[in-house]
Amino acid sequence: LEGALGGGPLAGKRVLVTSGPTHEPIDPVRYIANRSSGAQGTSLGVALAALGAEVVFVTGPADVPPPAGVQVIKVQTAQQMLAAVQTALPCDAAIFAAAVADWRVATASDRKLKKTKDGMPELEFVENPDILATVSQMTTGRPGLVVGFAAETNDVIENATAKLQRKGCDWIVANDVSPETGIMGGSENAVHLIWDGGVEDWPRMGKDAVAQQLAGRIAAALN
Ligand code: CTP
Ligand code: CA
Repeated sequence: LEGALGGGPLAGKRVLVTSGPTHEPIDPVRYIANRSSGAQGTSLGVALAALGAEVVFVTGPADVPPPAGVQVIKVQTAQQMLAAVQTALPCDAAIFAAAVADWRVATASDRKLKKTKDGMPELEFVENPDILATVSQMTTGRPGLVVGFAAETNDVIENATAKLQRKGCDWIVANDVSPETGIMGGSENAVHLIWDGGVEDWPRMGKDAVAQQLAGRIAAALN
């Protein structure tokens, strides 16, 4: 409502959000994907817009519809997501909630791969660009606040802290997605907010609530 009325603590701030999985083609009918629903990224887009931000929402093929009333750029692959992000810059803050495929098939076939008596196809993989690291390490025009996510199954704080340092982002939102937590694919999230020199453990709550808390923190950081 605040956003709709032109006020709110993020009024006049442009915030980029990436969300959802990416799909990496194998051939015209097949692709590599992951289990991201896009729910956490979508909740964030909604929460940021509600605080008055101008949200640019770059999304892969998610299960949930993108937030209403924001600029939505739909992509399929990691390479397309990087290009869309670069087009959307500059912005005041960038939040990378997408589950980007780490690898793609080196040369996707332009024809459907067929079964043959010679055995199975061999797929060669190449690494995708790291969108978060690319933006974090920009020397000119870097967003003032760059936030990554880290889904970990073990040694959550340690792995996420290493990720923060390796990529050069300002904050990492780390969550434990080991099967026994039931987080992956669910509506709740239990996260740790990590920055250089600090960690905050947030209680388990709905993904909407995580998004609202995080949007509030982003507003505080930009003001
Ligand atoms: N990310 C990205 N581009 C990639 C891979 C990841 O922008 N090609 C971003 C994600 O959106 C997330 C953060 O980087 O914000 C961490 O993603 P994650 O998959 O946990 O990190 P990786 O560096 O890919 O490490 P891992 O080997 O654990 O998958
Ligand atoms: Ca990864």
